Amino acid sequence: MNGTDRREFLKGTVWMGLAAVAAGCTHERTFGFSGAPMQGFAMKPIKKVRVACIGVGKRGMSALRRISLVPGTEVVAIADLFQDRVDRERKWLKDHGKKVPTLTFADPEGYKRICESDEVDVVYNVTPWYMHAPVCKYAMEHGKVALTDVPGCLTLDECWQLVETSERTQIPCMMLENCCYGDEEMMMLNMVKSGILGEIVHGEAAYIHDQRNLQYSSDRYHSLQGDKDAFAAGRVGWTLAYYSKYSGNQYPTHGLGPVAKYMDINRGDNFDFLVSLESKQAGYRHYARELFTDFRRDLEVRQGDMNLSLIRTKLGRSILLELATSLPRPYSRLNLVSGTKGTAMGFPDFRVALERKTGDGKAHEFLDEAEMKELKGKYRHPIWKVAGDVAAKVGGHGGMDFIMDLRWSYCLQNGLPLDNDVYDLAAWSSMVELTRASVENRSRPVDCPDFTRGAWKTANGFTIDGIDLRKLPGDFSGAKRDEEVDKTARSEGLKS
Ligand SMILES: NC(=O)c1ccc[n+]([C@@H]2O[C@H](COP(=O)([O-])OP(=O)(O)OC[C@H]3O[C@@H](n4cnc5c(N)ncnc54)[C@H](O)[C@@H]3O)[C@@H](O)[C@H]2O)c1
Repeated sequence: MNGTDRREFLKGTVWMGLAAVAAGCTHERTFGFSGAPMQGFAMKPIKKVRVACIGVGKRGMSALRRISLVPGTEVVAIADLFQDRVDRERKWLKDHGKKVPTLTFADPEGYKRICESDEVDVVYNVTPWYMHAPVCKYAMEHGKVALTDVPGCLTLDECWQLVETSERTQIPCMMLENCCYGDEEMMMLNMVKSGILGEIVHGEAAYIHDQRNLQYSSDRYHSLQGDKDAFAAGRVGWTLAYYSKYSGNQYPTHGLGPVAKYMDINRGDNFDFLVSLESKQAGYRHYARELFTDFRRDLEVRQGDMNLSLIRTKLGRSILLELATSLPRPYSRLNLVSGTKGTAMGFPDFRVALERKTGDGKAHEFLDEAEMKELKGKYRHPIWKVAGDVAAKVGGHGGMDFIMDLRWSYCLQNGLPLDNDVYDLAAWSSMVELTRASVENRSRPVDCPDFTRGAWKTANGFTIDGIDLRKLPGDFSGAKRDEEVDKTARSEGLKS
């Protein structure tokens, strides 16, 4: 798709209403080769991976500390808005016997100087949502592998910008969707690929996380204007600023990423269209009125308590995608996949139901404990088999964060393609704008762009790849849990 096609498409989606969206989505242009340019793309092996951590807030702090435990990987630069956060991480590195980076900035533009440096291979972007696309773009423009936390970007325009930049610069851009690396999610991918669930027809994905205390807690997020303690300055934190301004599913990828992998989205199947319906907002308002006397009491939040989207894929599969951050509910990402031979699902516990023979009725019940044990032994993903113990030791959402960081660094050190590419980033993140477009138009259907421009039809599916620890220069002798990171996770009601 050239610039004009893309602009026409965007004009259609954003400004000309939903009828035009459908028309806009017919712009599909295939290049004169069979895969899209960045699918399966691998860099030359990088012996020592030099990482710049951009954003060392709550999530960035834990990322920096994990990365520095991965053999063959070194943190060489840090940027944040606030000097004390940069200093805190420099001190942590020093206290843990690591080299202390001198390329550090406490400045909103510092990331640019870092991207321009020859001392960096990877830019690891854990800034707020509005900085994801600008930092990734600048990194790729300067030859740095761009890894970004979720969602990869916020608008369709940013999705296309990242796709086009990655293709033009031939630099990979991957979204750090840690939930794709969960023990259960990877086991389910292995089960799907083995065919045990039959032909895959349906998936369910969600981010159900009661975040009311986080969203209103006084020291949690800086404001969009850069006030460190947003509420003390009479402003909302940057995440609540988004929830106050927009509807739709603004945090779609934790649940959707794994399901997209079960269904080989962009690699054999693709998102086709969706509808999205949102409830009214009452949860945040109720919470604020009960607990606060300051300006938070009357703050208007636009994001509904419950966003429900239904996606249909090109091969006719269905996906339920949910977002709920403001209702008192236990945490869940649903994580369900159903095929013609069985169903696997997570939350609160991992359960599987299987027909042994077509029509035997066995799938009316879940497998019992002994059967589950046997199944887990057989289908545990090879990465978790070799690195599960160390991942559990380091922690990070039950270890999946460490497995993710271990895996991308392993791929870069060994000249392998990264697990997810810029098309995955774009397709999964595009849900932010697409669901909003549907919600704001009485849940009318919205077509999903094909960021691969037809290459999904011929691309190879996701594979089950392991890690050979002998190919890493060093061991995990220093690996252990970090108390400060653990404390943060517990304060969010999550697994540390
Ligand atoms: N994958 C996960 O499980 C997970 C969990 C939590 C958060 N996240 C994601 O991580 C990101 C950060 O979230 P958080 O909770 O750490 O937020 P946070 O506000 O605690 O941290 C963001 C940091 O970025 C810094 N920053 C802002 N602008 C910057 C700039 N121009 N240059 C350098 N630094 C800048 C801020 O000073 C802050 O320290 C978000 O995208 C969020 O969605 C992912």
